[in-house]
Amino acid sequence: MSFSWTGAKRPILALAPMAGYTDTAYRQLIKGIEPRVICFTEFTSADGIVYDSKMTLKQLDFNPEEEKPLVAQIFGKKAAHFAEAAKRIEQMGIDAIDINMGCPAKKVVSSDHGSALLKNPCHALTLVEACAKATRLPVSVKTRIGSDKLDLPWFIQFCKDLENAGVSLLTIHGRTAKQMYTGQSDWEPIYEVKRNLKIPVLGNGDIRSAEDAVKKLGNLDGVMVGRGTMGNPWLMAEIAAAFYGGTYIPPKTFAEKLPAYLRHAELCVQSKGEDRGMKEMRKHFVQLIRGFDGASEYRAKVVQISTLEEARRTLYEILAHIEQTKAHLPAPPHIHELVDQ
Ligand SMILES: Cc1cc2nc3c(=O)[nH]c(=O)nc-3n(C[C@H](O)[C@H](O)[C@H](O)COP(=O)(O)O)c2cc1C
Repeated sequence: MSFSWTGAKRPILALAPMAGYTDTAYRQLIKGIEPRVICFTEFTSADGIVYDSKMTLKQLDFNPEEEKPLVAQIFGKKAAHFAEAAKRIEQMGIDAIDINMGCPAKKVVSSDHGSALLKNPCHALTLVEACAKATRLPVSVKTRIGSDKLDLPWFIQFCKDLENAGVSLLTIHGRTAKQMYTGQSDWEPIYEVKRNLKIPVLGNGDIRSAEDAVKKLGNLDGVMVGRGTMGNPWLMAEIAAAFYGGTYIPPKTFAEKLPAYLRHAELCVQSKGEDRGMKEMRKHFVQLIRGFDGASEYRAKVVQISTLEEARRTLYEILAHIEQTKAHLPAPPHIHELVDQ
């Protein structure tokens, strides 16, 4: 049966697209812990898809057994490329398409992609229409509450226009593009948009616990979680238990968490090969090694790791060190320590 946002289990729990993070290994790790999560790929260039760029197409690798339904997020500015990319994504067996209208990164905005589309709403609508016409897959949009500042009446109208152009779900991050990742995500405008739209709306920004997710859900159809899962993929199972019922007790000790860390590394090596896979795993390992005596020396060590065997040995060495010194468990890092954006 084909995927539809209206048919998705409520409240929807989605893994945010995060460039450099939410690759197939990360998504499989998350889905292995909580299968009810709907995952979004990292943002992927529509131009790159159309030009058959190997690197771009690699970003859309996925494991159909583990990851479905999967949403591919694309960015770009050419309507014809959006339409062609949508067709190709459909042929790949991916379940839905999301258009990036929120990325505030300089090089993305200066090419008129991502959040630059908030400054060119007519063009944004053209892209949605081109995509929706080209594919039977649901087309969604992920955006922010504004470009430089929040103008609520304007933003509500923009979201209504997106709905009329064929968008079947909207995800809103409660910051303006100008704010980047500073301040707090403001969920009030998101609730207000939902009051004015018929399509499902997901809220996004600063969910770090199941309690946050329940508190912030309000009148929305679901939530999207990004940085809170970094170093803590179990967060999604905690939120799912709070949303759908049941109890979930996340692993607490380094020893309990270690198998998931190794599984992530194995998946990464499987999809990218040992050399590239282990290089990419280094940033994930760094996040795990905090809050105990000697952590900084081990962080320096994990950024040198180049084989899976070395990763195994080092993580077990850390475990032995923690148990020997009865050091504190690594506390989850503060959200703003995780990214340098
Ligand atoms: C490292 C990183 C990469 C990101 N890449 C993307 C992306 O590719 N596409 C996108 O729409 N948003 C991207 N985002 C934004 C997140 O999807 C999300 O909107 C933001 O982090 C706020 O949610 P959070 O507080 O739950 O992390 C990225 C964020 C981070 C931290």
